[in-house]
Amino acid sequence: MPNDKWKMTNKKFFERDHGAVEMAAPLGGIGAPHRPVLLKETLKFLAPERGGLFVDCTVGLGGHSEAILKSSNETRVLGLDLDPEALAYSRQRLAPFGKRFRSFQANFRTIAEVMQQANERDPNGILVDLGVSSLQFDSPERGFSFRFAAPLDMRMDPASGASAADLLQQLPESEIAKIIFEYGEERHSRRIARRIVERREQGKPITTTAELADLVRLAVGSRKRDQIHPATRTFQALRIAVNNELEGLEEFVEAAIDLLIPDGRFVGISFHSLEDRILKRALRKLSGQCQCPPRMPVCSCGARALVEVLTRRPVVAGAGEVEENPRARSAKLRACHKLKR
Ligand SMILES: C[S@@+](CC[C@H](N)C(=O)[O-])C[C@H]1O[C@@H](n2cnc3c(N)ncnc32)[C@H](O)[C@@H]1O
Repeated sequence: MPNDKWKMTNKKFFERDHGAVEMAAPLGGIGAPHRPVLLKETLKFLAPERGGLFVDCTVGLGGHSEAILKSSNETRVLGLDLDPEALAYSRQRLAPFGKRFRSFQANFRTIAEVMQQANERDPNGILVDLGVSSLQFDSPERGFSFRFAAPLDMRMDPASGASAADLLQQLPESEIAKIIFEYGEERHSRRIARRIVERREQGKPITTTAELADLVRLAVGSRKRDQIHPATRTFQALRIAVNNELEGLEEFVEAAIDLLIPDGRFVGISFHSLEDRILKRALRKLSGQCQCPPRMPVCSCGARALVEVLTRRPVVAGAGEVEENPRARSAKLRACHKLKR
């Protein structure tokens, strides 16, 4: 169905459920003001006022990058993102900084290759702000949110890989249940997976956000005291699976630390407990703490003290930031600096 038709269907769906219409953000300016999360804290740890090269591995709408570029005329930023729409937006936003900002459509797991391609080395700081951007979440046609009726897509790079609808059509029931349980921490995962596969067997596969949201609501029921929509956890789980969000995250942190100059800074922001656990483990290992199970007689995890962790506990948003930007509620920031050798 062409996009315009989807937008009209979506308008009706949204009006029915919420009594108001939130339109897709046009590229020239997103509807709701975008606030980069934990910005003050990110700048404190990255210390960009010292100048130098910074890699923003998830440039998104360019909020963090803009603040880094503004902090000194001597900073430069390489911005990476999988999403061509986000890159188009941030390129436009950061155009006033001229050659100090360069961007690449790439998976941050390929950071070493991107730096080589850009003919750059020795970054002073590397930032990764995981998850979805408000542009993706608030664009109905991207299919990330059950707030809108749209094709069930959820790919950060819409030109590559399988969409969420494809996964629900192709994966075995047990695999769908596992994804919903592990990535969504949804206790009704098996029931939801059963209903999805039942529909598929009846020749009525789930292809839209509205169909999935309705199916989950029917499968798990919704209680008045629930603070979130019953489909929230299932949508989150599918998004993580579609974009392979956890795969290779630990190896990425190791590669990023390897690239940094001595005393360079790394900041990672996550929104999901599994992501935070991976960041925490990676930083602990890089700080020399053995990650082997307690009963292992000899260390085999290869832990070596390459960094000093700057955040003993994850930094979280204060009440003021959460009130202004509810997305910040689940953000956790961890940071380290690379030791001089
Ligand atoms: C939370 S947003 C970043 C927001 C950004 N810090 C800002 O201030 O606007 C996360 C971004 O990371 C991108 N992303 C997620 N996984 C990625 C990956 N593996 N490689 C590159 N970009 C990724 C998403 O497309 C999204 O634009």
